[in-house]
Amino acid sequence: MLGIKEAVERLNSGGVVAIPTETVYGLAAKVTNLQAIQEVFTLKRRPSDNPLIVHISSLEQLSEISKPLTELELSIINKFWPGPLTLILRRKKKVLDAVTAGLETVAVRMPNHSICLDLLQRTGPLVAPSANLSGTPSPTKKEHVQNDFGPSFPILDGGACTIGLESTVITCRSDYLSTTIKNESVYTKTPSHSDIIIYRPGAISEQLLSEFGSVHYYSASQAEQDYPRSKPILPSPGLKYRHYAPKAKVQWLSSFDLLRAVTETSIVLLLDKNQVVNQAQAVEGSISSQELVQSCNLVECEGSWERFGQLLYDTFRVADIENYTHVFVQDIRQSTARSSLKDAIINRIEKAISGQ
Ligand code: TXA
Ligand code: MG
Repeated sequence: MLGIKEAVERLNSGGVVAIPTETVYGLAAKVTNLQAIQEVFTLKRRPSDNPLIVHISSLEQLSEISKPLTELELSIINKFWPGPLTLILRRKKKVLDAVTAGLETVAVRMPNHSICLDLLQRTGPLVAPSANLSGTPSPTKKEHVQNDFGPSFPILDGGACTIGLESTVITCRSDYLSTTIKNESVYTKTPSHSDIIIYRPGAISEQLLSEFGSVHYYSASQAEQDYPRSKPILPSPGLKYRHYAPKAKVQWLSSFDLLRAVTETSIVLLLDKNQVVNQAQAVEGSISSQELVQSCNLVECEGSWERFGQLLYDTFRVADIENYTHVFVQDIRQSTARSSLKDAIINRIEKAISGQ
């Protein structure tokens, strides 16, 4: 474990350090140090065509990385930074190709974590993908980083991540075009459908963003429709990689399953235990909270969406380490309860179910 001074020294001298943010831990290197950045890709076993997010602590640092912002981008930044929102912006030429995977855009975010902000003030901008091996869930506490990179890996400890899900990644439509590989911009049509496109849902939800314009999730078929003359591209390279899925089978938990399927080799993540138990009783006649607790490894969140988000990846990791055969997750898709985290949580669970 490192203190902040040691972390600064290591990063400034070209090292790689795992750093805390409010979303997940990141594997950080100086944005200007090619060797350190390559080390990040190697350590993570990350394909080099999947670009990194640059983390900054001030708008001054942003101006080193990004070309001038549009008004829309600026107002979104003013509202949500520091916070769990990454914007795809037009990059300055001097940003290394290794950071952006050769794209003309760069992903940037200002994390809302005091230790991380303090670090960034002292080091300058840092690249930081999630601090997990490609193929494992993003780390939400230092132990997760240690599981993937070993017990003596240099980590700046900032406690458990308060959100536990990766940041929302968006682009404002004006930048949609410039995500093509350099010199392959073949688009002719003026973008018209929406102002903000979400590539990856996170704690800054579609609804929160809709104050600033029309918001859509990225869809490959929409992109094709908009730009029929282009060759197929995926504007956010991360979308094409297989997503993490635990070894155990992940399933939504209906009340009926609760009675039939849950066994001692199941780990069960519930947003609201009482609600599930009540529903189960209505369907089949009987299961008590106590029976439920005894029949499986029960992780429950007392109705707190924040807790649910914080514990999701930890539950997946526990399932892998302890060889559970099934992960059941309360089916929150039809829930009338509202939370800005809901879409992001459903997205991560569906990815873990489908492995895509
Ligand atoms: O919450 C987070 O965003 C965490 C913490 C550490 O900040 N970081 C994180 O990084 O999740 P990573 O590398 O695991 O995910 C970055 C995502 C990838 O899907 C990548 O493809 C996308 O952002 N991305 C990066 N640069 C891009 C660009 N120029 N255009 C489109 N997508 C980009
Ligand atoms: Mg990641």
